[in-house]
Amino acid sequence: MPFQIKTIQPKFAGEVFGVDLRQPLSDSDIDAIHAGMNKHAVLVFHGQQMNDEEHLAFTKQLGPVQTNAAANVIKAEERRLPLDFSDVSNLDKNEKLLARDDRRRMFSLGNRLWHSDASFRAIPAKYSLLYGHVVPPKGGDTEFADMRQAYDTLDAETKAEIEDLICEHSNLFSRALIGFTEFTDEDMRNFKPVLQRLVRYHPAMDRKTLFMSAHIGGIVGWPKPKAMAFVRDLMEHATQRDFVYAHKWQQGDLVIWDNRQTMHRVRRFDDQKYVRDMRRTTIMCEGPTVAGQAA
Ligand code: OGA
Ligand code: MN
Repeated sequence: MPFQIKTIQPKFAGEVFGVDLRQPLSDSDIDAIHAGMNKHAVLVFHGQQMNDEEHLAFTKQLGPVQTNAAANVIKAEERRLPLDFSDVSNLDKNEKLLARDDRRRMFSLGNRLWHSDASFRAIPAKYSLLYGHVVPPKGGDTEFADMRQAYDTLDAETKAEIEDLICEHSNLFSRALIGFTEFTDEDMRNFKPVLQRLVRYHPAMDRKTLFMSAHIGGIVGWPKPKAMAFVRDLMEHATQRDFVYAHKWQQGDLVIWDNRQTMHRVRRFDDQKYVRDMRRTTIMCEGPTVAGQAA
């Protein structure tokens, strides 16, 4: 089958056929993937039997990789995967299920909240590429909310109100939302809040998007409770079911999403019983959404 992208009706995501991601791609295939990403914001590739090297090699063909060298909650000696990967599995480096009260598990439970990857970094994530090595028999879907639709369907008054708002994001704000606040001094240093625009412009599509995330902990110039109550309202609007594509994983799926145009979250599954071995690479944005911040 030649390269082809079909919309997953009635949703926005696209399903890609006719490409083996383990092979170096032609320029025209790479252009087609970027064009597909611009249009669909989420692309699903089935039946890719990739190892980490192949996953990373494919990623590098799409842009500069965001590594986890700078700030991390996993200690170097505990890492299961190389620094170019975000380990979103429920496994430790001996391939054993993380214990119920493991700190890494506490952090990864934050992925159950709607978020945009690395919005807590000055230069946030552009694409995330998540590969399903082992998927649980039940639960653990990943859901995606279309933040273009979310923006477009706001009323004119709200659009005007939010146009220039700046939010504060930190990986620690999202964890605090689910009641985890046992942060070390190192966590506090690593995850100092960064600033992000609430409304983003997507040049390739000439569209605006809402740039939201569970990592938001405030709006510059607003009292915190007023900000957080408003953020909740916007979240509710942005994640209504009509705007959401839910991905049911099959082993060998690679899913790419555009963090500038979507939010995502993982749904509940029995992580004390089933292995869910998911590995993510990330491509960074060209620059910050608020000028003058150090990377
Ligand atoms: C991620 C993430 C969701 C999932 O990799 O950034 O949020 O389904 N993962 O594991
Ligand atoms: Mn994520």
